[in-house]
Amino acid sequence: MSSWRAMTAARNVAGMLEPRTNEDSVGERSSLSSSWFAALPKVELHCHIEGTMRPSTVAELSSTHGLPLPAASLDELFTYDDLTGFLTVFWFVQSVLRTPEDWERLAYESIVDGAVHGLRYREAFFTPARHLQDGQRLADIVAALDRGLDTAERETGVRCRLIFDIDRAFGPDLAVDHVRQLVDLRRSGAPGAERVIGLGMDSTERGIDPESFLPAYRLAHAAGLRRTAHQGENSPAAAIAAAVDVLGCERIDHGISIFGDPELVRRFADRRLPFTVCPNANVRINPDVVPGLGEHVYPAMREAGLLATLNTDDPALVGLDLTQEYELTAAAFGYDANDMVEISLDGIAASWLDDTEAAVLSQEVRAFARNASTGAPAPPER
Ligand code: ADE
Ligand code: ZN
Repeated sequence: MSSWRAMTAARNVAGMLEPRTNEDSVGERSSLSSSWFAALPKVELHCHIEGTMRPSTVAELSSTHGLPLPAASLDELFTYDDLTGFLTVFWFVQSVLRTPEDWERLAYESIVDGAVHGLRYREAFFTPARHLQDGQRLADIVAALDRGLDTAERETGVRCRLIFDIDRAFGPDLAVDHVRQLVDLRRSGAPGAERVIGLGMDSTERGIDPESFLPAYRLAHAAGLRRTAHQGENSPAAAIAAAVDVLGCERIDHGISIFGDPELVRRFADRRLPFTVCPNANVRINPDVVPGLGEHVYPAMREAGLLATLNTDDPALVGLDLTQEYELTAAAFGYDANDMVEISLDGIAASWLDDTEAAVLSQEVRAFARNASTGAPAPPER
């Protein structure tokens, strides 16, 4: 067993940031118990694997590789005013991934940490543009992620597939080059390449025309990859429309600006186009856009008939976990057990699982809903 695995096994989730509660902005608690939220089987479709890096692992790898933390403490590092500030920190965290063993450890810890929060299946982003620019090989990164995921899957029963995210900051030409490398890896049957099932796009949105990435998306589609994109976190509804109508995206990550175009809301509600929404991360990463959870459009999205799923985005970098995501969202919007079960089932419906896999997981969620105690106080006896 490698040294980090021995330490990880002993430490498990103890190396996480103190969880924050959002209580300042919410001030409410759900009547359901935390253990019910933790045990509810969940799918996650919007989670950056680098954003699940334990703060203790960030500290350890930064020290190992001689990269001083760009802040006096992790708490200070992981507090943000806006997406631009967050991305600076995200890029630092990415930069501590220097060797295949670092990637393998990240992948392993990510799933072990998710498993205790009822995670059953994840489609996780990885964004290797800066690593490839620095000379790391995509084949090595994918194989290392696959090894870490494989070990964690066998230990926890959680399954994980990967989405290759383009980093918009590196521009459309490099995106084509990187997608071509990915397609070649899949064609040659390279280790772990079949685990990468989709193409996404993250990082900065402002001032970037999504349509400029069409050649990369065309290449991915021709190779049988599924397509999604971060849009509408920091860009208008027109950018969401372009991602779907021009790039061919089958899902949208965030999409919270969609109410800027009521006709688009109707169109995507009719199509049941999935949105992977991250309410708590939005408050913690983009307080300039979403100052408090109570002001988030998540309930409005669901009421409008949009298939709006619930996700953490970058849990370890914002002091969040999947149990809290569900619990805080339920408390803020008055959702009961049935609502939360429906949200979990919607995650499965929005996933890229095949019909059989999705049916099995949906059965698991329904069985949980029938059998688990909600922890809500029993009605008074008469
Ligand atoms: N990369 C990681 N998290 C992100 C987010 N919330 N928005 C854009 N790019 C990201
Ligand atoms: Zn994201």
